Amino acid sequence: MAFPGTIPYSFPKLLWSIGQYGLLEMLARKEGTLVSSLMATVRQRIAARSLTPGARLPSIRAFAKAMQVSTSTVVEAYERLAAEGIIRPRPGSGFYVSSPLAPLSLTEIGPKLDREVDPFWVSRQSLAAGPDMLKPGCGWLPASWMRETGLRRALRALARADDATLTDYGSPLGSPALRQLLTRRMEEHGIEASPDQIILTESGTQAIDLLCRFLLEPGDTVLVDDPCYFNFHALLRAHRVNVVCIPFTPVGPDIDLFGKALVEHSPRLYVTNSAIHNPTGAVLSPVVAHRLLKLAEPAGLTIIEDDIFADFEQTPAPRLAAFDGFERVVHIGSFSKTLSASVRCGFIAAPRSWIEDLTNLKIATAFGGGRLSAELVLALLRDGSYRKHMEELRLRLSRAMNETTARLQALGFEPWIKPQAGMFLWCRLPEGLDASELARRALAQNVILAPGNAFSLSRSANGFMRFNVAQCLDDRIFDVLQAAMRECSSALWLDRLPGIGGFGTP
Ligand SMILES: Cc1ncc(COP(=O)(O)O)c(C=O)c1O
Repeated sequence: MAFPGTIPYSFPKLLWSIGQYGLLEMLARKEGTLVSSLMATVRQRIAARSLTPGARLPSIRAFAKAMQVSTSTVVEAYERLAAEGIIRPRPGSGFYVSSPLAPLSLTEIGPKLDREVDPFWVSRQSLAAGPDMLKPGCGWLPASWMRETGLRRALRALARADDATLTDYGSPLGSPALRQLLTRRMEEHGIEASPDQIILTESGTQAIDLLCRFLLEPGDTVLVDDPCYFNFHALLRAHRVNVVCIPFTPVGPDIDLFGKALVEHSPRLYVTNSAIHNPTGAVLSPVVAHRLLKLAEPAGLTIIEDDIFADFEQTPAPRLAAFDGFERVVHIGSFSKTLSASVRCGFIAAPRSWIEDLTNLKIATAFGGGRLSAELVLALLRDGSYRKHMEELRLRLSRAMNETTARLQALGFEPWIKPQAGMFLWCRLPEGLDASELARRALAQNVILAPGNAFSLSRSANGFMRFNVAQCLDDRIFDVLQAAMRECSSALWLDRLPGIGGFGTP
């Protein structure tokens, strides 16, 4: 009798056909690949529906005999298939084929062309991008630019760490050695912080989230730059606060409008990047930094200085935390852009009196920190080759900046400023072009762009786009951009014809 769910198929026949399928090939292989081949064979049988959901797999002994392998090889293959959820064990009865997963919705495949250009536009497209997509709009370096050999070396060393490092929670503040190292790195920017003023976090994003939980009540007002890093909008929205944006200039926020906003809105917080601003690549000038702090003091304003791009700087820009000495400035950072975005690790340097409460919040919302990530970051930063790698990266970025600027200018884009360092180039589009429309058309050709309004709360940046110069070294990007620009221009031209589009329509 067939087992429930099996199609009529005799057991010896099944074993024979499985055996025929890959036996010779398998015998020629080593133990590790033998397990993989056995797994592949079972998967193929399931896909071909010779084994249907609910069917019992051959016993370990019978399968091993039919395949002429050891029982331990079959055990390993079955255990791994079970870990993947493809089959499941029933105690005392053997292994059975699992129920099929819900079919993958076709609407989830491929880029979402109809997504609105909102603060999630760039992140959703870039994070979900397949390997064949080009990402001049994304906010990180190509994997090939990262220090992958150093990372692998550190991972191998970490595998030899003591048991507690590999399995226990991290301490509430996080690795003392990493916090010590961070104080030394901050010193280079004139920031005086002691290790007990630093809390490690899972990322820069978590650092800002913790600070928002600590400082804000729903309904409070927060100031951001216009334009600013789009996830500031998204995160602040999640905290149910009012966000007010201040026009950004090439030397920092427009200080007169900043002063007016303080009077008008009594904001609790301002979130910004002083060095290498995202998306403009601008750097805060000492004069604006000084004025900002002078205005913040009587207004009781706290400032989060997000310094995630610090190591890309060619010449150090003024840091608000250095001038302020942690009176009202909190400094945060992470290693996503320089070491790995996959190894999640960031930090907060804050006034000493906040640390106790911030630590409790960290425990409440994340419990122990990512101990492995912190150890990995420590090893990578301590590795003598880190500085050299960053020097090379800065040089490479500077070349990419020149090359991309020239190519975009040839297409009629105008850089808003010439950034001193970093990966971002904020460009004005040729007259009349709509950045969101251009981005949608490029996305249809597998190129992810970053339209200006994704960064602009006032939605006044539709004539701008952010380019990541490190991701712009592929000719196809400029071909797609040019074709998309042509399409947009012809649509614009048609629109303007009397009787067809906007202008002149009765
Ligand atoms: C200005 C800025 N802050 C924070 C982040 C997020 O960093 P993390 O990966 O550490 O969460 C980014 C990522 O692009 C960023 O550009």
